[in-house]
Amino acid sequence: MAEIKTLAVVGSGQMGSGIAQLGAMYGLDVWLVDTDSDALLRATNSISSSIQRFVSKSHLSQAAGSDALRRLKCTSNLEDLHSADVIIEAIVESENVKKKLFSELDKIAKASAILASNTSSISITRLASATSRPRQVILGIDILAPFLFLAVFAREDSENQKLVAVLKKDSLQIDHQKLIAVLGFDVGCVIGMHFMNPPPIMKLVEIVRGADTSDETFSVTKALAERFGKIVICSQDYSGFIVNRILMPMINEAFFTLYTGVATKEDIDTGMKLGTNHPMGPLELADFIGLDVCLSIMGVLHVGLGDNKYAPCPLLVQYVDAGRLGRKRGIGVYDYRKVSELVKP
Ligand code: NAI
Repeated sequence: MAEIKTLAVVGSGQMGSGIAQLGAMYGLDVWLVDTDSDALLRATNSISSSIQRFVSKSHLSQAAGSDALRRLKCTSNLEDLHSADVIIEAIVESENVKKKLFSELDKIAKASAILASNTSSISITRLASATSRPRQVILGIDILAPFLFLAVFAREDSENQKLVAVLKKDSLQIDHQKLIAVLGFDVGCVIGMHFMNPPPIMKLVEIVRGADTSDETFSVTKALAERFGKIVICSQDYSGFIVNRILMPMINEAFFTLYTGVATKEDIDTGMKLGTNHPMGPLELADFIGLDVCLSIMGVLHVGLGDNKYAPCPLLVQYVDAGRLGRKRGIGVYDYRKVSELVKP
């Protein structure tokens, strides 16, 4: 299994900054990328204060905290990612925008790199289709097979002994995936690596295998999540995967409960906190996640699972149209702005 030394995270919002922080805290060199330089500035400030909180709670030594910050580099230039071992995408929840990024990463990333998406709901198989790697490499392998076969023999070191033995025994049955892995390439290198919010705190990572994701890619990704101290669950590649397939319809229903005047927002949240032991009410949680993210996920569920029960609540749509995106904008279902911010000088 290839050793992971350099992690790149594209998108420095609430998720990307948290994932980059984890990478740096667990000893990786990290590139954090965003098209918006203000977002990068906000991300470095929030990473630095979050690391300081880990230090003040004695979860990290001061020296380890300073080392983590030193390992973190920011850029707006994707070309800087050419040597990254793993690239995790954490940009807006839009299939078209993500596909465009994956096709750019495909041209820049090294052949053995893993391209992961932190998407909450979008098909990994479709994101992978924006890269040319799987098909081109397989096609290339078919044509180049005899040369690659010779190359494996030329590299007959201890690491490859087992594979070479297999190849010698029956040269007609070349395992293309193993062959590519030995030579440093990987077919199905695209995978879903879905962290929970906030990534440095939440224990879970949901791993999603697309139709072509290789076993090698899966093992390396799982090992990386475990290195970050996370518990891994695995999902098939269907809209919303496990967590958001269940969570988002509940949040949407909370919006319908508010929209149809059944109860106040406070009573809806208190009902779910005290009645079902949830640490946050569904409307508070929606504000924390971002109402734009919730709406995008509902859209993916609605189209992907083809059932009207996933239609987004009109009130959720209206809040997003009004720019009430939740905590990150100071207002969502609740208003988080201080009175002083509302009074114009
Ligand atoms: P966010 O809105 O906080 O941050 C997105 C960042 O991506 C912004 O800083 C934006 O400037 C940047 N960006 C957009 N297009 C870009 C591009 N082409 N290249 C580089 N940077 C670009 O979003 P958030 O909440 O961090 O979500 C990111 C992803 O993580 C989404 O796919 C979302 O579904 C997923 N996610 C979100 C969770 C949440 O609770 N908010 C939880 C788990 C996953």
